[in-house]
Amino acid sequence: MSTSRRRFLKAAAAASVASVLPSSPFEEKLQAQSPGVAGSAGAADGYILVTSANGVEAAKAARQALIQGYDPLDAAIVGVNVNELDPNDVSVGYGGIPNEEGVVQLDACVMDGRTMKAGAVGALEGCKTPSKVARLVMDRTDRVFLVGEGARKFATAHGFAVEDLLTARTRKIWLYWKERMSDIDDWELSAKEAEDPDVKWFLEKYGSEIFRPQGTIHMSVRSAKGELVGVTTTSGLFFKISGRLGDSPVVGAGIYSEGGVGSCGSTGRGEANLVTCGSHTVVEFLRQGKSPEEACLAALKRIDEKTHRVARHRDEKGRPKFNVNFYCVDAKGRTAGAAIWSGSKYVVGDNEGVRTLESAYLYRKGT
Ligand code: GLY
Repeated sequence: MSTSRRRFLKAAAAASVASVLPSSPFEEKLQAQSPGVAGSAGAADGYILVTSANGVEAAKAARQALIQGYDPLDAAIVGVNVNELDPNDVSVGYGGIPNEEGVVQLDACVMDGRTMKAGAVGALEGCKTPSKVARLVMDRTDRVFLVGEGARKFATAHGFAVEDLLTARTRKIWLYWKERMSDIDDWELSAKEAEDPDVKWFLEKYGSEIFRPQGTIHMSVRSAKGELVGVTTTSGLFFKISGRLGDSPVVGAGIYSEGGVGSCGSTGRGEANLVTCGSHTVVEFLRQGKSPEEACLAALKRIDEKTHRVARHRDEKGRPKFNVNFYCVDAKGRTAGAAIWSGSKYVVGDNEGVRTLESAYLYRKGT
């Protein structure tokens, strides 16, 4: 390649990531606006996005970005940044539940179905918006996946400050979890801790016993031109072992986007999805002619039939004790959300606005 062409391509790449670098006032304005009402989509008519149940505000922001002409992957990143920056979403980004050592380690992946390029970061510390760093891995390296210290150095090189991701709330929740783990170690629970409003909030939201759910946000977008892209970002399994990666940052597991076929991502028990390459499986089923809902359910059935076939993960009827959710859009713009267990929801955004829908499922809760 000639030097001038190389220079031109580098300049174009730099311009394309400018909108996903830290502290973009336009993004902040978009997020503040978050209109969430039907509007004039203009040139963007025909786009559709699908995201997880925690993505209502993200969908509003991404939708607004699409209407304003953002590249679909940048729009999806603008969307999930809402959750990454929200300290009250304890499953994603800033304010995510830390690992067992009290350190927040974040995972994210972006995939562009136009180019079949992807970028991912795993166990990234000190950066509120790992999705932006994942985008830079895709655009500014010849690699796909950076983890741990290397991911942190890369983020620093691109101007991301080292920030404390633990909030007062998540520190209290982590301490409470740690102190309850054992009564033969040196960490003692104080009588008042369970009454702390932040600890009570956590127990009410995630269960009276401390179990370990996984949050995460995924967003897939089909643009008006039919382009397919996706992003998944998470703080991962609550109180995980240091260095643990789930499915979220792994291409084919927590995310897969392929032009002309579809885009899919997941939330839920990452280990079950990792070993079945779940999101890729969904897109393969689309390729074979299934609808998005049929494809998601078939991939969930595979998880059920093939993984975690041990007592620890099965109820008295042999059904999974865990959940996995898929969110999918195909090349025609048809969307679906589906989960192993009933009760899950997903969010769709299009010209009509943003709405929350019931996910399809394999098993009805309470049966
Ligand atoms: N699905 C998110 C995780 O397992 O970390």
